[in-house]
Amino acid sequence: MYFMPTEITPGSLLILWHSRTGAAESAAREACQAAGAIRAELGESHNVHIKRACDVTPQDMLEASAYLFCAPENLASLSGEMKECLDRLYYPLLHRIEGRLFSVIITAGSDGEGALRQLRRICSGWRLNERVPGIILNMQSDTEAAILAPKTLSPTQLAQAREIGATLFALL
Ligand SMILES: Cc1cc2nc3c(=O)[nH]c(=O)nc-3n(C[C@H](O)[C@H](O)[C@H](O)COP(=O)(O)O)c2cc1C
Repeated sequence: MYFMPTEITPGSLLILWHSRTGAAESAAREACQAAGAIRAELGESHNVHIKRACDVTPQDMLEASAYLFCAPENLASLSGEMKECLDRLYYPLLHRIEGRLFSVIITAGSDGEGALRQLRRICSGWRLNERVPGIILNMQSDTEAAILAPKTLSPTQLAQAREIGATLFALL
């Protein structure tokens, strides 16, 4: 475990998450741990930070050099909280973060493509660079009861989240 400052330090990886039933939050935390492990291994000066989408400020985004967005698909779109975060941040950051790295983890019941497309479109407006291709983690929940139940990622899904966090961090 290493000390994670609450202020975003310049050049860091910022992981933004929203989750309704736990899957995207677990993916975000796993990616964060993996990035932290790479940091410890390489003795890097860069940091990794994790913040819930509703708490992320334009200043947080300006300080970071790379972003990992983790959120569910809800009603064929990005979840409302992640969309609200992006709506709030979009114009304050336009033309100010071009070329920075990003990736995305969408959690979904059975699809996820709509949310992934939407996030990519927003990030292409910012001219961000998806050097680490985003993924969809399919939770195979397609009944009301399954959709509303708390979610646990499989070992394979956890490994996918770890790989994205570690790779993005290593590219800083
Ligand atoms: C209101 C609502 C709408 C949803 N809409 C979709 C959808 O359009 N496509 C899909 O694949 N999954 C959909 N789901 C399923 C979630 O994406 C899935 O349960 C995912 O694991 C949620 O991630 P979370 O645990 O991080 O909240 C929906 C879930 C809710 C609660």
